Amino acid sequence: MRPPFLLGLLLLLAALALLAARLSPPRGGGEAAAYARHCQACHGPSGEGVAGIYPPLSEVGFLAASPEGRAYLVQSVLRGLPGGLVVEGTAYRVPMPGFSRLRDAELAAALNHVLALLGAEAAPFTPEEVQALRGEALSPQEVLRSRPPVP
Ligand code: HEC
Repeated sequence: MRPPFLLGLLLLLAALALLAARLSPPRGGGEAAAYARHCQACHGPSGEGVAGIYPPLSEVGFLAASPEGRAYLVQSVLRGLPGGLVVEGTAYRVPMPGFSRLRDAELAAALNHVLALLGAEAAPFTPEEVQALRGEALSPQEVLRSRPPVP
């Protein structure tokens, strides 16, 4: 084996290893991990929120059952919310940052973990559902106004 050939082989192996590392899911991937990484700091490990500051995610199950509610949920996580949301009769004042930098699959996973925490029966969110709404760039105010009424 001539040295240049060996070097070429080594470079190829290194490139393959790099590719494999990129294709495999990030360490600790999955729905719970996505939620823990991006949402839990404010909404708490069980989606209970922080009294008077960060809302509980208790109304997400109801919202996830209608197309309008689902669009609102995906958009709220993509664009953020301006403050002024009312959940279970309590008004929240703090804005929520947008997470449009997250990949479609990660954003869907975080929302699906909320559904799991609630034991909600709504269909799981798909990366395609998130991707379809990326093109619709709403402001946080517009997102909040699009929230369907919750009984
Ligand atoms: C920095 C704190 C913070 C983080 C991190 C955060 N949120 Fe929020 N979230 C808020 C606040 C504050 C509100 C209420 C905003 C308002 O009053 O307009 C909110 C509202 C929401 C709502 C609306 C609930 C409803 O009933 O309408 C959803 C859904 C939501 N967050 C999901 C998430 C998800 C999923 C993540 C992780 C990807 C996340 N949040 C990360 C602070 C946060």
